[in-house]
Amino acid sequence: MFKYEGASRISVDLNELINEVLTLTKGEIQKRAIIVRTKLDENLPPATANRVQLQQVLFNLVTNAIEAMDSVSIPNRQLLIKSEPGTSGDVGVAIEDTGVGIDLEHIDQIFSSFFTTKGSGMGMGLSICRSIIESHGGRSWASRGNPDGAVFKFTLPVAGSMPNSRRPFHGGRLGDQARPRRFQFC
Ligand SMILES: Nc1ncnc2c1ncn2[C@@H]1O[C@H](COP(=O)(O)OP(=O)(O)O)[C@@H](O)[C@H]1O
Ligand SMILES: [Mg+2]
Repeated sequence: MFKYEGASRISVDLNELINEVLTLTKGEIQKRAIIVRTKLDENLPPATANRVQLQQVLFNLVTNAIEAMDSVSIPNRQLLIKSEPGTSGDVGVAIEDTGVGIDLEHIDQIFSSFFTTKGSGMGMGLSICRSIIESHGGRSWASRGNPDGAVFKFTLPVAGSMPNSRRPFHGGRLGDQARPRRFQFC
């Protein structure tokens, strides 16, 4: 149903894409008085990717973060997006929010198709994100924020590189075991 093979891939600047998605979502962000911060590595190498698909990934993750903060009082709504080069031919992106967070009982299900905790949710956003990221040779996972909220991360191979591990990532559990160790996202 959701296959992304054969789509055209070019050298993509993830920082540029992150800023584009923040522009696209600016209206919702302002309406909900969300404080946005970015910590984007200036020397981030480009990824080889389908630009539109990656824009969809970032849009889905940012939209989820925005929605997760609806029930949080306005001064405490914060969105932080980080990008960082890895040490094994990867680049990583983290989207952190101060929203409702992820229930432990749901952490293994949230990337499954049609899983939603929202009244009018489709439950397809994260499933599509993971399909796209994995079709690019990357990984995606979620964890609970510290002290609250949620953190979604993904990695992508850098243009022209072959990452050490091509194992599909079956994470989604909490804890460091679920995360590729070479990313620290300081
Ligand atoms: N930033 C987040 N904070 C807390 N929970 C989240 C977040 N993003 C996703 N989720 C959980 O994962 C579920 C699935 O997300 P998604 O696949 O995008 O579908 P939908 O947004 O339609 O519910 C959500 O319903 C929610 O329970
Ligand atoms: Mg969603």
